[in-house]
Amino acid sequence: MAPDCDCVNTAVGPGGAQADSRRPCRCPDEASQAQRRCDRLALGTRHVYARRMKLLFLGDVVGRSGRAAVTARLAALRADWALDFVVVNGENATSGAGLSPDHAKALLDAGADCITLGDHAFDQKDMLRFIETEPRILRPLNYAKTAPGKGARVFSAPGGRKVLVAQALGQVFMKRPFDDPFSAVDAVLRAQPLGAAVQAAIVEVHCEATSEKMGMGHWCDGRASLVVGTHTHVPTADAMILPGGTAYQSDAGMCGDYNSVIGMDKLEPMRRFVTGMGKERFTPANGEGTLSGIYVATDDRTGHATDVRMVRVGGRLSPAGP
Ligand SMILES: [Fe+2]
Ligand SMILES: [Fe+2]
Repeated sequence: MAPDCDCVNTAVGPGGAQADSRRPCRCPDEASQAQRRCDRLALGTRHVYARRMKLLFLGDVVGRSGRAAVTARLAALRADWALDFVVVNGENATSGAGLSPDHAKALLDAGADCITLGDHAFDQKDMLRFIETEPRILRPLNYAKTAPGKGARVFSAPGGRKVLVAQALGQVFMKRPFDDPFSAVDAVLRAQPLGAAVQAAIVEVHCEATSEKMGMGHWCDGRASLVVGTHTHVPTADAMILPGGTAYQSDAGMCGDYNSVIGMDKLEPMRRFVTGMGKERFTPANGEGTLSGIYVATDDRTGHATDVRMVRVGGRLSPAGP
């Protein structure tokens, strides 16, 4: 079994730090602080640990296919990848528009530690009340000044660690004019500094334009563990670690049936594209769903990313993962 912490084996003795190899340290899973004593290796010296946090973010869950993919697969992924914290965007989980309380409970029961929403946050009207009773659900920071719920929150993770999650809506090509997302995210990151108040920070930027998402990635670089885009329902192939240590992907993609037009049964969208005349409502496609998102490992001392992988599990997309 892989060790749950990585000891950099930097012996701190009377003479000061001595460089050592980065051998894995099989310490018991009890390191809730950055520095621990290693009985197996230390022999009277102190070792400095770089304990990792393993995070998974899943993009917009669309309809029954998306919900089924999450409920069928997330528990196994949590165990197989030793995940510490999971965020799932649920803004399209109920009939492709919004999130009902029952479906929110199903996603939480399936293994989500936090559910985020988006521009469809309150398409299901019951969410207006439910979000006030369920702190694990976040709506965008800049949705509206009077919106119920919160746009950012600090969550607890195993080992006494803290994870900040924040979501903001972009402004480019969006249907409604939202307040400035950059100042909104900046205030949250300043209030919960990475590597001090929190061991990991996840910023979700929910919008159309990849340029705006990249701008948010660089705006947060070094101050967040992960900046990830959502809303387009198509994953981008640009997962990377930015120069300051922030993992980034322009869009996580959706959890849903990719034999579709962004999760919807393809006939009605195609009719509207081809003829310009709508005939029916959009309904979610109901084939096998793919889980799509991003995996990030972080260093607790800094909160910065040490590893980032695109995630695609099941359904039609080519598989990817850690
Ligand atoms: Fe959206
Ligand atoms: Fe969406």
